[in-house]
Amino acid sequence: MTEATAPKRGRGRPKKAPDAPKQRYFLSRAEQARRQTQKRLRDAKKRAEKVTKVAESKRRYARKLEEKVGKVEKALKGDTTTVIDTGELSTLPPPVQELVGNREVVFQPNEGPQEEFLSSSERDVLYGGAAGGGKSFALLADPLRYCTNPNHRGLLLRRTLDELTELIDKSRQLYPKAFPGAKFRESKSTWHFPSGATIWFTYLDKDKDVTRFQGQAFNWIGIDEITQYPTPYVWDYLRSRLRSTDPELQQNLYMRCTANPGGIGGWWIKKMYIDIGEHNKPFPASDVETGKPFLWPQGHEKEGQPLFYRRFIPARLTDNPFLMADGQYEAMLRSLPEIERKRLLEGDWDVADGAAFPEFSRAKHVVESFDLPTNWPRIRAADYGYASPSCVLWGAIDWDNNIWIYRELYVKQLTAEQLADRILEAEQLDPLPHYTVLDSSCWNKTGFGPSIAETMMRCGVRWTPSDRNRIQGKMEIHRRLADDPRTNEPRLRVFSNCSNTVKQLAAIPLSKTNSEDVDTKAEDHAYDALRYMLMTRMTGYAAIHQTLNGIKNQVYQVQNETFGY
Ligand SMILES: Nc1ncnc2c1ncn2[C@@H]1O[C@H](COP(=O)(O)OP(=O)(O)OP(=O)(O)O)[C@@H](O)[C@H]1O
Ligand SMILES: [Mg+2]
Repeated sequence: MTEATAPKRGRGRPKKAPDAPKQRYFLSRAEQARRQTQKRLRDAKKRAEKVTKVAESKRRYARKLEEKVGKVEKALKGDTTTVIDTGELSTLPPPVQELVGNREVVFQPNEGPQEEFLSSSERDVLYGGAAGGGKSFALLADPLRYCTNPNHRGLLLRRTLDELTELIDKSRQLYPKAFPGAKFRESKSTWHFPSGATIWFTYLDKDKDVTRFQGQAFNWIGIDEITQYPTPYVWDYLRSRLRSTDPELQQNLYMRCTANPGGIGGWWIKKMYIDIGEHNKPFPASDVETGKPFLWPQGHEKEGQPLFYRRFIPARLTDNPFLMADGQYEAMLRSLPEIERKRLLEGDWDVADGAAFPEFSRAKHVVESFDLPTNWPRIRAADYGYASPSCVLWGAIDWDNNIWIYRELYVKQLTAEQLADRILEAEQLDPLPHYTVLDSSCWNKTGFGPSIAETMMRCGVRWTPSDRNRIQGKMEIHRRLADDPRTNEPRLRVFSNCSNTVKQLAAIPLSKTNSEDVDTKAEDHAYDALRYMLMTRMTGYAAIHQTLNGIKNQVYQVQNETFGY
């Protein structure tokens, strides 16, 4: 045995002899009182814990009973989508059992995510993931929960009319069975239920179309395939339409959406629901751009608490027995190319980031407008269109060679002359631009007449032809969005009033056929103008020009001081 492991003698407590008499302590009165009080406190705490546990279990029981009563009430009012299992049925009084038990249940949620989606209580829920998981079907069934209430107003949206037709067809199979007497009025594209409740099925394509819902109120709003929207604008706007004056519905205001991974809007859905927290758990809603949580305002009794909660419920094909039964659909999804297979079979959102500039962040690249120093060189770039929009961008180059896009003109159906007038008007108070660049195809001539570029130049708006190399242009935007290691700031910033540039940088998707380029089918006029601007050699010239100007100014100053002229 080594010295280190040998037991140490004379250390620790000496062991008592087994037959030693018990030691007695004499405590002071104060100490006795303190110990007694502590014991009483401990006992009281134990009793309180017991009572809290009992209260909690009674509360749970009461909530269950409440749910059951709610279900039975709905069933008695004729709702055939509410499932009452045999265990629950046996606890009801016999006449109620007879009425409720003889109903034909027309919709029973699939166990798992679909069931969770249909019973989720958060204000805003995304049910997203694999194809065929039962998402659209669940979205159709969800608003039926409140159709026994005469004040229920539901709004179910898809991006285009064709896609909406498919949903309407499915609703025709489900709704009249769930609520006998429910009628679909074609002219208004609305389901009317016997209670007076309504669900409006409509489409919403462009951002500006949201004005159709101005002044309207809905207590349930749903969008099927929400990633078809390039930005969160529509979803954010619809939140302002979510309200009800009915006390029951006020407690049940819901926004529900479904999606497959990817798509033009995959980037913001990922940011809003998927990357933000644990899946299948509620999390406080926040602004998708700034990441700041929405909180109850100052002065409200809930001041500082989350305004509402969101939740993401992942969908899996394996949860839908209706499509899994013969394995055909699964086999078909397995045969897809890897990326599509991962997205549609495995519901993988990470391979679905369709945005061409995922590094673009409003918090970092978008700034409030400010007065630009007049000695920052100005540049102007444009993409011309008549039926499709023309976009003209103005930029300024600072002393560190960073570009600030400070103005945007985004107009449709203007001839070359009219556009030239608008440009001159906008530039009235600007220093003269040092460099101007226009889509080089504007020099193309179809006959003997002047080209678009020539026409504008005749009106006093000068241009040079752009470099149209798409891949290089995209790379240049990436380079400018990245931080400059000298300043830790990006080399490109956009004023917030240039809304189309901001929108397109945030949302323009990658091409499906060429991952080096953006999707040319997406709206890209501001993107193209920006590309032309950044592909000029102006930024290099500007830096030299600025240095020369600085030297010139110093020379003038010295001359002035020395010779007085
Ligand atoms: N609870 C259910 N009861 C009966 N049928 C169901 C149920 N859930 C899903 N289905 C059936 O499964 C089919 C596929 O479901 P659904 O169209 O909702 O899938 P999805 O997740 O929206 O697919 P995609 O991602 O392709 O849009 C539906 O057409 C429907 O017939
Ligand atoms: Mg679907």
